Amino acid sequence: MLYSDKVMDHFNNPRNVGVLDEPDGVGEVGNPVCGDVMKISIAVQDDRISDIRFQTLGCGAAIATSSIVTEMARGMTLADAVAITKKQVADELGGLPPAKMHCSVLATDGLKKAVDDYLVSHGREPIAVGTIAHDDPDFDPHAEEHEDACDVEEA
Ligand code: FES
Repeated sequence: MLYSDKVMDHFNNPRNVGVLDEPDGVGEVGNPVCGDVMKISIAVQDDRISDIRFQTLGCGAAIATSSIVTEMARGMTLADAVAITKKQVADELGGLPPAKMHCSVLATDGLKKAVDDYLVSHGREPIAVGTIAHDDPDFDPHAEEHEDACDVEEA
């Protein structure tokens, strides 16, 4: 089986789907090559993520990683949430095929953007800026030499 049982579980029964009615922060990120898009909304209390929802239009790995990220981030401090790595996401899911590792970056980047959106909209300094892969013009998940090269054909 290409995907772990946990990946399949989160794909078939994604947790925390939707949009918060009155979010404190929103992050949206898209993979320009495969076209997958994810949006994450957070509620914040005492610098911790008190509630979280996601919407992902994308591949099964993107949906499963988005779902698990919302479970991991709930209750975390903002600083801990932006430090979640794609490896931690993959490990939490029992592993991902190498060609699908990049899909988890969609989820971690969406979360980082939501945290920074909250901070900036409250007159504070962003803490994830500079670490968001999708903001890097050189980030290409489909690059041949990229260790996490995507298996989706370029359009
Ligand atoms: S995020 Fe595009 S193929 Fe998975």
